[in-house]
Amino acid sequence: MTDCPGDGVGAASPMELYEKLTAQGDKVRTLKTAKADKADVDAAVQLLLKLKVDYKHTTGSDYKAGCPPSEDAVVQDGGPSGDGAEEDTVDPWNVSTSSAKGVDYDKLIVRFGSSKVDQELVDRIEKISGQKPHRFLRRGIFFSHRDMHQVLDAYEKQKSFYLYTGRGPSSQAMHVGHLIPFIFTKWLQDVFDIPLVIQLTDDEKYLWKDLTLEDCHRFAVENAKDIIACGFDVNKTFIFSDLDYMGSSPDFYRNVVKIQKHVTFNQVKGIFGFTDSDCIGKISFPAIQAAPSFSNSFPQIFKGRKDVTCLIPCAIDQDPYFRMTRDVAPRIGYPKPALLHSTFFPALQGAQTKMSASDANSSIFLTDTAKQIKNKVNKHAFSGGKDTVEEHRKHGGNPDVDVSFMYLTFFLEDDEQLEKIRQDYASGALLTGELKKILIETLQPMITAHQEKRKQVTEETVKQFMTPRPLNF
Ligand code: TRP
Repeated sequence: MTDCPGDGVGAASPMELYEKLTAQGDKVRTLKTAKADKADVDAAVQLLLKLKVDYKHTTGSDYKAGCPPSEDAVVQDGGPSGDGAEEDTVDPWNVSTSSAKGVDYDKLIVRFGSSKVDQELVDRIEKISGQKPHRFLRRGIFFSHRDMHQVLDAYEKQKSFYLYTGRGPSSQAMHVGHLIPFIFTKWLQDVFDIPLVIQLTDDEKYLWKDLTLEDCHRFAVENAKDIIACGFDVNKTFIFSDLDYMGSSPDFYRNVVKIQKHVTFNQVKGIFGFTDSDCIGKISFPAIQAAPSFSNSFPQIFKGRKDVTCLIPCAIDQDPYFRMTRDVAPRIGYPKPALLHSTFFPALQGAQTKMSASDANSSIFLTDTAKQIKNKVNKHAFSGGKDTVEEHRKHGGNPDVDVSFMYLTFFLEDDEQLEKIRQDYASGALLTGELKKILIETLQPMITAHQEKRKQVTEETVKQFMTPRPLNF
């Protein structure tokens, strides 16, 4: 394959790789059958995916169990990109695909039964808000939705709505990928001038991970600082930890119980894949993530009104929670929440999976120094470039699989500049090192600015945001 990317190709022979893959496949199956710890299964699946990518790079064809490579397997020209061979995995706990271009989002829209954010919707948001659409909308990063047209119809008739998003505080360390929904939610709050609630599911992380309640709650408060640093308006934003708010708000808890009464074990098993050996906390947790979608869960903000429509910006992996929520809403007399779904923020190693806070080398953290950013991008960002400068100049690079280019689509504001970079990279005029330099110089000031804003967030500010109170809107 002449367009074999420069990074990530190990020195193993096709046969060695094949044997490793077969063994790893067995390991994953054994762990799954034994219902091993989620983290162990995840780690094994990650390695399996990585081996599959290496195998494809080395042999030019997809790994198939039971079909060893012929001894003279050579890297071939072109060939299909490998997508479609297997279904992408997208749920609240796993995101993976075998395609270097990342998850096939059009297929996901069909599978999940949501709607595409098309040009017509983007134009409509522009017309109604009177603002240039955010780059995440212009570039298909928020690519899917449910009921956005209803929300906009009502807004045009002076019927406002509120925003709800959240974060599972599983560690102190947040990376740039975690900021995507918050950056976009902040923009929505500004252009529509509406209230926002942010749920920190410290309870969820306690139930799913090997962490103490104290740790989860502490991470919630620490993560709140990074969220606040995104610039939310304290007069329009309520941030809450489930561990604190659930116990102090009878109205919230009443909604949780209502939801719990209207969803069966069979339904959550179908939606989330729970099994008989999952603890009952997990089984009932989806009701807690659903409750903030209903305005009367926040009487201090909505004065007991239950009819204020909710719009939830989130990454597409959270959709199962809200499919369930939309299913119960009419049965308990509430409006269904609308949704805007984002794509995933790819890992440095490639779009086969998303950034993970538990793998330091897969992510750019909000605490990284300028030097760390430079090293990580240069060392780990998967390249769509050619092996040698001569080849690259001659054939050009592939921006569709190049992680540095993908990151620029998230963070470089100027559309024309981005398009020029794409063309220059594809033609070979721009080298991988030069592309990485542009990314480094985009990320460094962005992260530094975030760090300075976070430094200004005091314990007092956090307390203000996290106190149940009326909001201005
Ligand atoms: N479950 C989410 C996570 O683990 C956190 C979350 C709670 C959330 N409510 C939300 C995310 C609403 C998006 C929208 O990160």
